[in-house]
Amino acid sequence: MSQTFAIQLENVSKTFGRRKKRVQAVRELDLSVEVGQVFGFLGPNGAGKSTTIRMMMDFIRPSAGTIQLFGSPVQGNYVLMRRVGALVEGAAFYNFLTGRKNLEILARTRGCYDPKRIESLLDQVSMTNRADRRVQGYSTGMKQRLGLAAALLNDPDLVILDEPTNGLDPAGIQDVRNFIRDLAKKQEKTVFLSSHLLSEVEQVCDQVGIINQGRLVQTGNVAELLASQTVIRLAVTPQARAMGLLLPNWTVIEDGRWLEVAAERDAVPAIVQQLVAADVQIFEVVVQQQSLEELFLAATGGTDA
Ligand SMILES: Nc1ncnc2c1ncn2[C@@H]1O[C@H](COP(=O)(O)OP(=O)(O)OP(=O)(O)O)[C@@H](O)[C@H]1O
Ligand SMILES: [Mg+2]
Repeated sequence: MSQTFAIQLENVSKTFGRRKKRVQAVRELDLSVEVGQVFGFLGPNGAGKSTTIRMMMDFIRPSAGTIQLFGSPVQGNYVLMRRVGALVEGAAFYNFLTGRKNLEILARTRGCYDPKRIESLLDQVSMTNRADRRVQGYSTGMKQRLGLAAALLNDPDLVILDEPTNGLDPAGIQDVRNFIRDLAKKQEKTVFLSSHLLSEVEQVCDQVGIINQGRLVQTGNVAELLASQTVIRLAVTPQARAMGLLLPNWTVIEDGRWLEVAAERDAVPAIVQQLVAADVQIFEVVVQQQSLEELFLAATGGTDA
C-alpha cells in the first residue's frame, strides 16, 4: 500500500567531499509522509534539510538509501516529477524579465502553460500588482512569493517547500501560512516544508520530524508531541504529604515551592480531588505546556540556531 505514502525515505545518507573535507550532511534517514499530510521538517542551520529536499527532488543523488515519491523511485523519473512542485533555496529567475513572464516561461518549459492558472497563482501569493515589474527590482519576500507561485504551476499533488517564509515580513508569513493550510485542506495536496521556525511548524503542520546534524531525532504528530510535554505545577501545603499522595499514580518532582506533575491537562480534576479529599491546601494550579521550542532544544541538545 505504498500509494498511501507520498514520501518514503529509507536509510538515506548523503556525504559531500572526500577525506578531510568529508561532510556527512544526512545520516540514515527514515521518513514517511502520508498523502494529504502537512509535514514539517524542523532543524537548525546546517541540519541537512535542504540536502534532503534536493535529494527528494532528484537534483542530487543519495550516497546510500532509497527515496520514493508516491511509491516510485525518484531517480531519473521525469514523469513522476510532474506530480511534484518545489520551492528550493534561492529560487532562480530571469532578472531582466517580469514576474509574470518568468512564470510563463517556466510553465511552457514544464508543458503546463495556462494563463488563467498563472493569474490565479499571482493572486494567491498577492503578486498581481507587481507581476509586470522586472524581477531585478523585487525584494527577497517578493521573490519568495513568486517562487511559491512557480512551485504550483503544474498543479502538483506534492508540494515541497524549503523554508517557505524566509525573507517575508510578519504579514507575508501569515499569508504564506494560510496559503499552505489551504493547499492541504482545500486542494488536498500533500505538503512537505522545512523550517527552523517552531511556531510555523506548530501552526501549519500535522506531523513533524526534527533533524539535527543529519539525523532524525524525533518524529510524531504535532499535537501529541505537545500534549506529551505537559506539566501540572501545584503550590500546596503540606508539600511532602501531597507528594506522598500523588506519587503512586503520577511522576512528581519537587521544584522549590512547586510540585511538578508530569500529566496532561485532563488529569487536573483527579489530582485536585485527591488532594482536597486528603485536606491538602491548594493555592495554585498551573498547566504548563512545553513549547515546541523547548522540545526542539531538548531533542537537538540545545544547538538551535
Ligand atoms: N554541495 C555541498 N558540498 C559540501 N557540503 C555541503 C553541500 N551542501 C550542503 N553541505 C553541508 O551539508 C550540511 C547540511 O547542509 P544543508 O544545506 O542541508 O542544511 P540546512 O538544514 O538546509 O541548513 P539551513 O537551515 O542553513 O538552510 C552542512 O554542513 C553543509 O555545509
Ligand atoms: Mg537549507
